[in-house]
Amino acid sequence: MSLHYKYTATHKDCLCSGKRTNLVSQYSMANNSSAEKQRARVLVCVTGAGGFIGSRVVKELLLRGYRVRGTARDPADRKNVHLQTLEGANERLSLHRADVLDCDSLRAAFDGCHGVFHVASPVSNDVELMPVAVKGTRNVVNAAADMGVHRLVFTSSYGAVHMNPNRSPDTVLDETCWSDYEFCKQTGNYYCCAKMMADKAATEEAARRGLQLAVVVPPMTIGPMLQRSLNGSNYYVARYLMGTKKAYPNAVAIYADIRDVVRAHLLVYEHHRARGRYVCFGTALHRSCLLRLLRGLFPHYPITSKCEGNDKPMVRPYRFSNQRLKDLGLEFTDDMRKTLYETVICLQQKGHVRLIMPNQHSSL
Ligand SMILES: NC(=O)c1ccc[n+]([C@@H]2O[C@H](COP(=O)([O-])OP(=O)(O)OC[C@H]3O[C@@H](n4cnc5c(N)ncnc54)[C@H](OP(=O)(O)O)[C@@H]3O)[C@@H](O)[C@H]2O)c1
Repeated sequence: MSLHYKYTATHKDCLCSGKRTNLVSQYSMANNSSAEKQRARVLVCVTGAGGFIGSRVVKELLLRGYRVRGTARDPADRKNVHLQTLEGANERLSLHRADVLDCDSLRAAFDGCHGVFHVASPVSNDVELMPVAVKGTRNVVNAAADMGVHRLVFTSSYGAVHMNPNRSPDTVLDETCWSDYEFCKQTGNYYCCAKMMADKAATEEAARRGLQLAVVVPPMTIGPMLQRSLNGSNYYVARYLMGTKKAYPNAVAIYADIRDVVRAHLLVYEHHRARGRYVCFGTALHRSCLLRLLRGLFPHYPITSKCEGNDKPMVRPYRFSNQRLKDLGLEFTDDMRKTLYETVICLQQKGHVRLIMPNQHSSL
Protein backbone atom coordinates (compact mmCIF):
# COMPACT_ATOMS: atom_id res chain seq x y z
CA MET A 1 0.00 0.00 0.00
CA SER A 2 1.34 3.44 -0.77
CA LEU A 3 0.53 6.82 0.67
CA HIS A 4 -1.81 9.06 -1.21
CA TYR A 5 0.20 12.25 -1.35
CA LYS A 6 -0.29 13.55 -4.80
CA TYR A 7 2.81 14.23 -6.83
CA THR A 8 2.43 17.06 -9.31
CA ALA A 9 5.20 17.63 -11.80
CA THR A 10 5.96 21.20 -10.91
CA HIS A 11 9.41 22.58 -10.21
CA LYS A 12 10.03 24.35 -6.94
CA ASP A 13 12.54 27.15 -6.52
CA CYS A 14 14.63 24.75 -4.42
CA LEU A 15 16.21 23.30 -7.54
CA CYS A 16 19.44 25.20 -7.30
CA SER A 17 21.03 24.23 -10.58
CA GLY A 18 20.61 22.32 -13.79
CA LYS A 19 18.45 22.83 -16.86
CA ARG A 20 14.90 21.51 -17.20
CA THR A 21 14.66 18.77 -19.77
CA ASN A 22 12.13 16.07 -20.55
CA LEU A 23 12.26 12.78 -18.68
CA VAL A 24 13.11 10.55 -21.60
CA SER A 25 16.81 9.96 -22.16
CA GLN A 26 18.24 8.92 -25.46
CA TYR A 27 20.80 6.28 -26.19
CA SER A 28 23.34 6.38 -28.91
CA MET A 29 22.44 2.95 -30.27
CA ALA A 30 19.14 2.93 -32.14
CA ASN A 31 16.58 0.83 -30.28
CA ASN A 32 15.54 -1.20 -33.31
CA SER A 33 15.24 -4.93 -33.76
CA SER A 34 18.58 -5.36 -35.55
CA ALA A 35 20.37 -3.59 -32.69
CA GLU A 36 18.51 -5.89 -30.29
CA LYS A 37 19.58 -8.95 -32.24
CA GLN A 38 23.17 -7.72 -32.08
CA ARG A 39 22.95 -7.22 -28.32
CA ALA A 40 21.49 -10.70 -27.85
CA ARG A 41 24.84 -12.04 -28.99
CA VAL A 42 26.71 -9.83 -26.54
CA LEU A 43 27.49 -11.22 -23.11
CA VAL A 44 28.27 -8.73 -20.36
CA CYS A 45 29.01 -9.14 -16.67
CA VAL A 46 27.86 -6.90 -13.80
CA THR A 47 29.72 -7.19 -10.49
CA GLY A 48 27.62 -6.53 -7.39
CA ALA A 49 24.49 -7.40 -9.38
CA GLY A 50 22.22 -7.58 -6.34
CA GLY A 51 22.94 -4.08 -5.01
CA PHE A 52 20.98 -0.86 -5.64
CA ILE A 53 22.85 0.34 -8.73
CA GLY A 54 23.91 -3.16 -9.85
CA SER A 55 20.31 -4.45 -9.96
CA ARG A 56 19.17 -1.52 -12.04
CA VAL A 57 22.08 -1.92 -14.46
CA VAL A 58 21.20 -5.61 -14.85
CA LYS A 59 17.54 -4.72 -15.44
CA GLU A 60 18.38 -2.17 -18.13
CA LEU A 61 20.84 -4.50 -19.87
CA LEU A 62 18.20 -7.25 -19.99
CA LEU A 63 15.59 -4.83 -21.30
CA ARG A 64 17.98 -3.83 -24.05
CA GLY A 65 18.48 -7.44 -25.07
CA TYR A 66 21.91 -8.29 -23.64
CA ARG A 67 22.86 -11.63 -22.15
CA VAL A 68 23.93 -10.85 -18.61
CA ARG A 69 26.03 -12.49 -15.96
CA GLY A 70 25.66 -11.00 -12.52
CA THR A 71 28.09 -11.63 -9.71
CA ALA A 72 27.33 -11.78 -6.01
CA ARG A 73 29.28 -13.19 -3.11
CA ASP A 74 26.32 -15.46 -2.40
CA PRO A 75 23.98 -15.70 -5.39
CA ALA A 76 21.59 -17.93 -3.43
CA ASP A 77 21.09 -15.33 -0.70
CA ARG A 78 17.49 -14.15 -0.45
CA LYS A 79 18.67 -10.59 -1.00
CA ASN A 80 19.32 -11.44 -4.67
CA VAL A 81 15.96 -13.07 -5.37
CA HIS A 82 14.57 -9.95 -7.08
CA LEU A 83 17.02 -10.44 -9.94
CA GLN A 84 15.27 -13.62 -11.07
CA THR A 85 11.99 -11.75 -11.48
CA LEU A 86 13.39 -9.21 -13.95
CA GLU A 87 12.04 -9.24 -17.49
CA GLY A 88 14.28 -11.48 -19.61
CA ALA A 89 16.03 -12.98 -16.57
CA ASN A 90 14.84 -16.54 -17.22
CA GLU A 91 16.35 -16.60 -20.67
CA ARG A 92 19.33 -14.25 -20.42
CA LEU A 93 20.53 -13.81 -16.82
CA SER A 94 22.80 -16.10 -14.85
CA LEU A 95 24.23 -15.42 -11.42
CA HIS A 96 27.81 -16.31 -10.53
CA ARG A 97 29.52 -16.49 -7.19
CA ALA A 98 32.45 -14.05 -7.15
CA ASP A 99 34.36 -12.04 -4.61
CA VAL A 100 36.47 -9.13 -5.86
CA LEU A 101 39.36 -10.42 -3.74
CA ASP A 102 39.25 -13.82 -5.45
CA CYS A 103 40.80 -13.50 -8.93
CA ASP A 104 39.85 -17.02 -10.02
CA SER A 105 36.18 -16.34 -9.30
CA LEU A 106 36.39 -13.10 -11.33
CA ARG A 107 38.08 -14.79 -14.29
CA ALA A 108 35.40 -17.49 -14.34
CA ALA A 109 32.64 -14.86 -14.29
CA PHE A 110 34.23 -12.78 -17.09
CA ASP A 111 34.96 -15.72 -19.41
CA GLY A 112 33.47 -14.93 -22.85
CA CYS A 113 32.22 -11.46 -21.87
CA HIS A 114 32.54 -8.47 -24.20
CA GLY A 115 32.00 -5.98 -21.40
CA VAL A 116 32.22 -5.79 -17.64
CA PHE A 117 30.40 -3.30 -15.43
CA HIS A 118 32.36 -3.15 -12.19
CA VAL A 119 29.78 -1.85 -9.75
CA ALA A 120 30.60 -3.92 -6.63
CA SER A 121 32.27 -2.15 -3.73
CA PRO A 122 31.79 -1.89 -0.01
CA VAL A 123 29.82 1.29 0.63
CA SER A 124 31.27 1.93 4.02
CA ASN A 125 33.57 4.19 6.00
CA ASP A 126 35.19 1.17 7.65
CA VAL A 127 38.94 1.61 7.09
CA GLU A 128 39.37 -2.20 7.07
CA LEU A 129 37.26 -2.39 3.90
CA MET A 130 39.40 0.03 1.87
CA PRO A 131 41.52 -2.78 0.36
CA VAL A 132 38.35 -4.54 -0.83
CA ALA A 133 37.49 -1.50 -2.94
CA VAL A 134 41.02 -0.77 -4.17
CA LYS A 135 42.64 -4.22 -4.54
CA GLY A 136 39.25 -5.52 -5.68
CA THR A 137 39.21 -3.00 -8.52
CA ARG A 138 42.76 -3.90 -9.58
CA ASN A 139 41.72 -7.55 -9.57
CA VAL A 140 38.65 -6.84 -11.69
CA VAL A 141 40.67 -4.93 -14.31
CA ASN A 142 43.31 -7.63 -14.49
CA ALA A 143 40.83 -10.49 -14.59
CA ALA A 144 38.93 -8.68 -17.37
CA ALA A 145 42.15 -8.16 -19.35
CA ASP A 146 43.17 -11.82 -18.79
CA MET A 147 39.84 -13.00 -20.22
CA GLY A 148 39.95 -10.74 -23.31
CA VAL A 149 37.11 -8.40 -22.21
CA HIS A 150 36.86 -5.40 -24.59
CA ARG A 151 35.30 -2.71 -22.46
CA LEU A 152 35.15 -2.05 -18.75
CA VAL A 153 32.79 0.40 -17.09
CA PHE A 154 33.81 1.27 -13.54
CA THR A 155 31.44 2.87 -11.03
CA SER A 156 33.42 5.50 -9.14
CA SER A 157 31.85 8.05 -6.80
CA TYR A 158 31.64 11.76 -6.33
CA GLY A 159 33.36 11.04 -3.02
CA ALA A 160 36.45 10.73 -5.22
CA VAL A 161 35.80 14.17 -6.71
CA HIS A 162 34.30 16.76 -4.39
CA MET A 163 35.96 16.40 -0.95
CA ASN A 164 38.48 19.19 -1.12
CA PRO A 165 38.30 22.01 1.45
CA ASN A 166 40.69 24.15 -0.59
CA ARG A 167 38.56 24.15 -3.70
CA SER A 168 37.30 27.64 -4.52
CA PRO A 169 33.47 27.91 -4.42
CA ASP A 170 33.71 29.15 -8.01
CA THR A 171 35.40 26.00 -9.27
CA VAL A 172 33.26 24.07 -11.72
CA LEU A 173 33.23 20.47 -10.50
CA ASP A 174 33.89 18.13 -13.39
CA GLU A 175 35.93 15.10 -14.46
CA THR A 176 39.25 16.86 -13.79
CA CYS A 177 38.55 17.27 -10.04
CA TRP A 178 39.83 14.99 -7.28
CA SER A 179 39.12 14.89 -3.57
CA ASP A 180 41.95 15.69 -1.19
CA TYR A 181 43.11 12.28 0.06
CA GLU A 182 44.71 13.58 3.29
CA PHE A 183 41.63 15.63 4.14
CA CYS A 184 39.38 12.59 3.60
CA LYS A 185 41.65 10.48 5.80
CA GLN A 186 41.84 13.06 8.58
CA THR A 187 38.06 13.46 8.63
CA GLY A 188 37.45 9.68 8.66
CA ASN A 189 35.92 9.63 5.17
CA TYR A 190 37.54 6.33 4.30
CA TYR A 191 34.87 5.58 1.70
CA CYS A 192 36.04 8.64 -0.26
CA CYS A 193 39.68 7.56 0.17
CA ALA A 194 38.80 4.08 -1.11
CA LYS A 195 36.86 5.30 -4.14
CA MET A 196 39.61 7.77 -5.05
CA MET A 197 42.24 5.05 -4.88
CA ALA A 198 40.00 2.61 -6.75
CA ASP A 199 39.29 5.17 -9.51
CA LYS A 200 43.03 5.80 -9.95
CA ALA A 201 43.82 2.07 -9.77
CA ALA A 202 41.25 1.28 -12.47
CA THR A 203 42.72 3.93 -14.77
CA GLU A 204 46.34 2.84 -14.19
CA GLU A 205 45.69 -0.88 -14.57
CA ALA A 206 43.46 -0.48 -17.62
CA ALA A 207 46.13 1.63 -19.35
CA ARG A 208 48.83 -0.91 -18.42
CA ARG A 209 46.74 -3.82 -19.73
CA GLY A 210 45.37 -2.02 -22.82
CA LEU A 211 41.75 -2.37 -21.70
CA GLN A 212 39.15 0.21 -22.80
CA LEU A 213 37.85 1.94 -19.66
CA ALA A 214 35.02 4.37 -19.03
CA VAL A 215 34.35 5.57 -15.49
CA VAL A 216 30.92 6.74 -14.32
CA VAL A 217 31.03 9.08 -11.33
CA PRO A 218 27.63 9.11 -9.62
CA PRO A 219 26.81 11.56 -6.85
CA MET A 220 24.34 10.72 -4.06
CA THR A 221 22.04 8.45 -6.04
CA ILE A 222 18.44 8.03 -5.03
CA GLY A 223 15.31 6.47 -6.46
CA PRO A 224 13.13 3.40 -6.26
CA MET A 225 14.98 0.22 -5.31
CA LEU A 226 14.53 -3.16 -6.92
CA GLN A 227 16.17 -4.96 -3.99
CA ARG A 228 14.45 -5.48 -0.64
CA SER A 229 17.30 -4.30 1.57
CA LEU A 230 17.92 -0.61 2.19
CA ASN A 231 21.13 0.67 0.60
CA GLY A 232 23.17 3.57 1.96
CA SER A 233 22.03 6.37 -0.32
CA ASN A 234 18.32 5.67 0.13
CA TYR A 235 18.88 5.37 3.88
CA TYR A 236 20.21 8.94 3.61
CA VAL A 237 16.62 9.98 2.70
CA ALA A 238 14.88 7.47 5.00
CA ARG A 239 16.59 8.71 8.19
CA TYR A 240 14.99 12.15 7.75
CA LEU A 241 11.54 10.55 7.43
CA MET A 242 12.16 8.33 10.44
CA GLY A 243 13.00 11.42 12.49
CA THR A 244 16.29 9.88 13.60
CA LYS A 245 18.19 12.80 12.12
CA LYS A 246 17.45 15.62 14.57
CA ALA A 247 19.31 18.36 12.69
CA TYR A 248 20.65 18.70 9.19
CA PRO A 249 24.11 19.94 8.25
CA ASN A 250 24.75 23.30 6.63
CA ALA A 251 25.98 21.51 3.54
CA VAL A 252 25.43 21.09 -0.16
CA ALA A 253 25.39 17.77 -1.98
CA ILE A 254 24.88 16.70 -5.55
CA TYR A 255 22.14 14.19 -6.34
CA ALA A 256 21.16 12.03 -9.28
CA ASP A 257 18.18 9.88 -10.09
CA ILE A 258 19.08 6.18 -10.18
CA ARG A 259 17.69 5.90 -13.72
CA ASP A 260 20.07 8.60 -14.99
CA VAL A 261 23.00 6.83 -13.34
CA VAL A 262 22.00 3.58 -15.03
CA ARG A 263 21.57 5.28 -18.42
CA ALA A 264 25.04 6.75 -17.99
CA HIS A 265 26.51 3.26 -17.48
CA LEU A 266 24.84 1.96 -20.63
CA LEU A 267 25.74 5.02 -22.67
CA VAL A 268 29.45 4.93 -21.91
CA TYR A 269 29.50 1.21 -22.63
CA GLU A 270 27.71 1.50 -25.95
CA HIS A 271 29.66 4.53 -27.16
CA HIS A 272 32.74 2.69 -28.27
CA ARG A 273 34.88 5.78 -28.18
CA ALA A 274 33.86 6.78 -24.65
CA ARG A 275 36.96 6.76 -22.41
CA GLY A 276 37.86 8.16 -19.02
CA ARG A 277 35.65 9.76 -16.40
CA TYR A 278 32.05 10.90 -16.83
CA VAL A 279 30.47 12.75 -13.92
CA CYS A 280 26.77 11.96 -13.64
CA PHE A 281 25.72 14.97 -11.57
CA GLY A 282 22.04 15.87 -11.68
CA THR A 283 21.18 18.56 -9.14
CA ALA A 284 23.11 20.43 -6.44
CA LEU A 285 21.00 21.16 -3.39
CA HIS A 286 21.60 22.62 0.01
CA ARG A 287 20.25 20.16 2.57
CA SER A 288 17.60 22.69 3.61
CA CYS A 289 16.26 22.64 0.03
CA LEU A 290 16.20 18.85 -0.09
CA LEU A 291 14.26 18.72 3.19
CA ARG A 292 11.88 21.47 2.07
CA LEU A 293 11.05 19.36 -0.99
CA LEU A 294 10.53 16.28 1.19
CA ARG A 295 8.38 18.19 3.68
CA GLY A 296 6.28 19.60 0.85
CA LEU A 297 5.60 16.11 -0.47
CA PHE A 298 5.23 14.33 2.89
CA PRO A 299 4.20 16.94 5.46
CA HIS A 300 3.16 14.38 8.09
CA TYR A 301 6.63 12.98 8.67
CA PRO A 302 8.81 14.36 11.48
CA ILE A 303 11.40 15.88 9.13
CA THR A 304 13.74 18.14 11.03
CA SER A 305 13.90 21.83 10.23
CA LYS A 306 16.88 22.45 12.53
CA CYS A 307 20.21 23.28 10.95
CA GLU A 308 23.48 22.34 12.69
CA GLY A 309 25.75 25.37 12.93
CA ASN A 310 23.15 27.78 11.60
CA ASP A 311 25.21 30.67 12.96
CA LYS A 312 27.42 30.27 9.87
CA PRO A 313 26.47 31.59 6.42
CA MET A 314 24.55 29.11 4.25
CA VAL A 315 26.92 27.05 2.12
CA ARG A 316 26.42 27.92 -1.53
CA PRO A 317 25.56 25.22 -4.09
CA TYR A 318 28.52 23.92 -6.09
CA ARG A 319 28.88 24.71 -9.70
CA PHE A 320 29.33 21.62 -11.81
CA SER A 321 29.43 20.46 -15.39
CA ASN A 322 27.93 17.21 -16.64
CA GLN A 323 28.58 18.21 -20.24
CA ARG A 324 30.62 15.10 -21.13
CA LEU A 325 27.59 12.86 -20.53
CA LYS A 326 25.26 15.32 -22.22
CA ASP A 327 27.55 15.25 -25.24
CA LEU A 328 27.09 11.47 -25.34
CA GLY A 329 23.31 12.05 -25.41
CA LEU A 330 22.22 11.79 -21.78
CA GLU A 331 19.27 14.00 -20.94
CA PHE A 332 19.18 14.28 -17.18
CA THR A 333 15.84 13.64 -15.49
CA ASP A 334 16.44 16.74 -13.44
CA ASP A 335 13.26 16.57 -11.35
CA MET A 336 14.31 15.95 -7.76
CA ARG A 337 10.77 16.32 -6.51
CA LYS A 338 9.62 13.38 -8.60
CA THR A 339 12.69 11.35 -7.70
CA LEU A 340 12.15 11.99 -4.00
CA TYR A 341 8.46 11.18 -4.26
CA GLU A 342 9.13 7.85 -5.95
CA THR A 343 11.93 7.06 -3.49
CA VAL A 344 9.68 7.58 -0.48
CA ILE A 345 6.83 5.57 -1.95
CA CYS A 346 9.29 2.72 -2.52
CA LEU A 347 10.63 3.06 1.05
CA GLN A 348 7.05 2.79 2.33
CA GLN A 349 6.17 -0.15 0.12
CA LYS A 350 9.25 -2.10 1.17
CA GLY A 351 8.62 -1.31 4.84
CA HIS A 352 11.72 0.81 5.43
CA VAL A 353 9.75 3.81 6.66
CA ARG A 354 6.48 3.78 8.55
CA LEU A 355 3.42 4.66 6.57
CA ILE A 356 2.17 7.84 8.24
CA MET A 357 -1.31 8.98 7.33
CA PRO A 358 -2.26 12.60 8.02
CA ASN A 359 -4.24 11.82 11.23
CA GLN A 360 -1.37 9.77 12.67
CA HIS A 361 0.84 12.80 13.11
CA SER A 362 0.00 13.29 16.79
CA SER A 363 0.96 9.71 17.69
CA LEU A 364 4.62 10.24 16.71
N1 LIG B 1 24.32 4.75 -4.19
C1 LIG B 1 25.05 5.85 -4.33
O1 LIG B 1 24.64 6.96 -3.97
C2 LIG B 1 26.42 5.76 -4.97
C3 LIG B 1 27.05 6.98 -5.31
C4 LIG B 1 28.28 6.94 -5.91
C5 LIG B 1 28.88 5.73 -6.17
N2 LIG B 1 28.27 4.57 -5.82
C6 LIG B 1 28.96 3.32 -6.12
O2 LIG B 1 28.05 2.45 -6.77
C7 LIG B 1 28.37 1.11 -6.45
C8 LIG B 1 27.14 0.40 -5.95
O3 LIG B 1 26.64 1.07 -4.81
P1 LIG B 1 25.17 0.82 -4.28
O4 LIG B 1 24.67 2.11 -3.80
O5 LIG B 1 24.41 0.05 -5.28
O6 LIG B 1 25.48 -0.06 -2.99
P2 LIG B 1 24.94 -1.47 -2.50
O7 LIG B 1 23.50 -1.62 -2.77
O8 LIG B 1 25.42 -1.60 -1.10
O9 LIG B 1 25.74 -2.50 -3.41
C9 LIG B 1 27.10 -2.80 -3.21
C10 LIG B 1 27.41 -4.10 -3.90
O10 LIG B 1 28.80 -4.37 -3.74
C11 LIG B 1 28.95 -5.75 -3.51
N3 LIG B 1 30.16 -6.06 -2.74
C12 LIG B 1 30.56 -5.53 -1.58
N4 LIG B 1 31.72 -6.10 -1.20
C13 LIG B 1 32.05 -7.02 -2.14
C14 LIG B 1 33.11 -7.95 -2.32
N5 LIG B 1 34.10 -8.11 -1.43
N6 LIG B 1 33.12 -8.74 -3.43
C15 LIG B 1 32.12 -8.65 -4.31
N7 LIG B 1 31.09 -7.81 -4.20
C16 LIG B 1 31.05 -7.00 -3.12
C17 LIG B 1 27.71 -6.19 -2.77
O11 LIG B 1 27.45 -7.51 -3.19
P3 LIG B 1 27.15 -8.75 -2.23
O12 LIG B 1 27.16 -8.25 -0.81
O13 LIG B 1 25.81 -9.22 -2.64
O14 LIG B 1 28.17 -9.73 -2.56
C18 LIG B 1 26.63 -5.27 -3.34
O15 LIG B 1 25.95 -5.88 -4.41
C19 LIG B 1 29.53 1.16 -5.47
O16 LIG B 1 30.73 1.02 -6.20
C20 LIG B 1 29.43 2.56 -4.90
O17 LIG B 1 30.68 3.03 -4.45
C21 LIG B 1 27.06 4.56 -5.22
